[in-house]
Amino acid sequence: MEKTFVMIKPDGVQRGLIGEIVARFETKGYKLAGAKLMNISNTLASVHYGEHEGKPFYPGLVKFITSGPVFAMVWEGENVIAGARQMMGKTNPQEALPSTIRGDFGLSVGKNLIHGSDSPESAVREIGLFFNDSELVDYQKVN
Ligand code: CMP
Repeated sequence: MEKTFVMIKPDGVQRGLIGEIVARFETKGYKLAGAKLMNISNTLASVHYGEHEGKPFYPGLVKFITSGPVFAMVWEGENVIAGARQMMGKTNPQEALPSTIRGDFGLSVGKNLIHGSDSPESAVREIGLFFNDSELVDYQKVN
């Protein structure tokens, strides 16, 4: 089954939105395969956001993502990579449609609440960066 990496950023955790966001994914029908509340080191931030290094917003992005705990998750389900990004809405919350997570709760592109993998390759890479295999459940074995 397809899997994706989704992370509630420090602003979402601080604002108490973990439950709301998890509920949206569960209600949609996706299965939570792994989750943890954690702090991101500068090293992990620079690897995770390596593709943005050199962009004007990069220093602020690393500073922000390491500023407080994040809630890292792996979700699985049919077409979950694209589906999760649809539920998140556009990167800039001011352009994100109502009923999306960023459209409903966000105002700033820097503090846009949530991150989700943008391709199958990113999903594999990002899940591997944040989770060991032993931290993920296998629903086929459970059921
Ligand atoms: P995310 O999906 O986590 O991937 C890269 C992040 O960079 C993006 O969400 C935004 O939160 C952040 N960011 C900050 N400033 C900008 C900007 N000007 N343009 C695009 N992304 C930005």
